[in-house]
Amino acid sequence: MNVIPEIESERAWLESVRQDIHAHPELAYEEQRTAGIVKQYLEQWGIETHTGLATTGVVGTLTNGPGPSIGLRADMDALPIREANQFAYRSKHDGKMHACGHDGHTTMLLGAARYLAANKNFRGTVNFIFQPAEEAAGGAKVMIDDGLFELFPVDAVFGMHNWPGLAVGQFAVKAGAMMASLDCFDIVVEGTGTHGALPHRGVDPVLAASHIVTALQSIVSRNVDPLQVAVLSVTKFHAGDAYNIVPARAELGGGIRCFDPDLRANILRRVEEVADKVAESFGARAAVTYQMAYPPVMNEVSNTVLAAEAASAVVGADNVDTNSQPSLGSEDFAFMLERKPGCYLFIGNGSGKGGCVIHNPAYDFNDEILTLGATYWVRLVERFLATVVA
Ligand code: NI
Repeated sequence: MNVIPEIESERAWLESVRQDIHAHPELAYEEQRTAGIVKQYLEQWGIETHTGLATTGVVGTLTNGPGPSIGLRADMDALPIREANQFAYRSKHDGKMHACGHDGHTTMLLGAARYLAANKNFRGTVNFIFQPAEEAAGGAKVMIDDGLFELFPVDAVFGMHNWPGLAVGQFAVKAGAMMASLDCFDIVVEGTGTHGALPHRGVDPVLAASHIVTALQSIVSRNVDPLQVAVLSVTKFHAGDAYNIVPARAELGGGIRCFDPDLRANILRRVEEVADKVAESFGARAAVTYQMAYPPVMNEVSNTVLAAEAASAVVGADNVDTNSQPSLGSEDFAFMLERKPGCYLFIGNGSGKGGCVIHNPAYDFNDEILTLGATYWVRLVERFLATVVA
């Protein structure tokens, strides 16, 4: 492995930063302490720093003459999970935990920023984007809506996530869809309440909603090309609170995931049609609303090639899977890739200590990969900005 020696010499510092952030996890839009640490370091290294996008977002801008501009993004938020780990740097904030490795993502980007500020071996501009609220709160979209790409224009934007189960020293990426879209839906079915002994005097929303659940399962099996991938799950069903009353309404909810924007639109349209027509056939009414809508993570081809080359420079081409199996998970970096070309890849978090799945109370980011991730960012910048490589 080809870790940059200067970054290797900072290993103890990187670990201390990562473990300090791990011990002080902050939830979406509350990342005040984490953002403060990021800002302090960036300013210390002479990087122009902007705060306030999406409340706690931090953007550092490092320019070395005219040239193209690249955006590198790390997420900073933690999850509402009670940590099960007992090591010294376990969460000091009860019920909050860095169970997705965003502590590591923030630290790897800081490591790259420190090196690039000291060496400036590129021509153009690097924007270091430290984003709040990746977990189910769409902080990337809020940063964009707050003017991220108007204030900090970039020609391409890149993201990275640790991936438990992928070995340390390996990267995985693919052009096209890397992660799935996610649309969370709610369906309110309105009927007419009645006595349980007089069903013919009302309209039963429980029965109508039950048929909607069944009919929704026909969308993936009958409306989607069998060679395409989609998941539709109804995960919530609430109605009634008595044995002798037919309630007036039933509520359903669930999620839809797929990789293709056109397919996504078709499935959403079919959910509304199915809910509406099935409810109508029972004399009930259905209203569909969407709580969250993430697009799929779409990697642009030439930037994916560049990212794979940068990863290969760190760990060797044999350790970079360029045709990775996509994940049906979702990621709000997709909003940035909707606006700008770029690439999102996985860095192996290993399978041993710290290798258990993300969003698990015993998860931990693997400190072994801090130097690999920081070196990857530097190699990517060197290639993107003037392609001058030492
Ligand atoms: Ni994550």
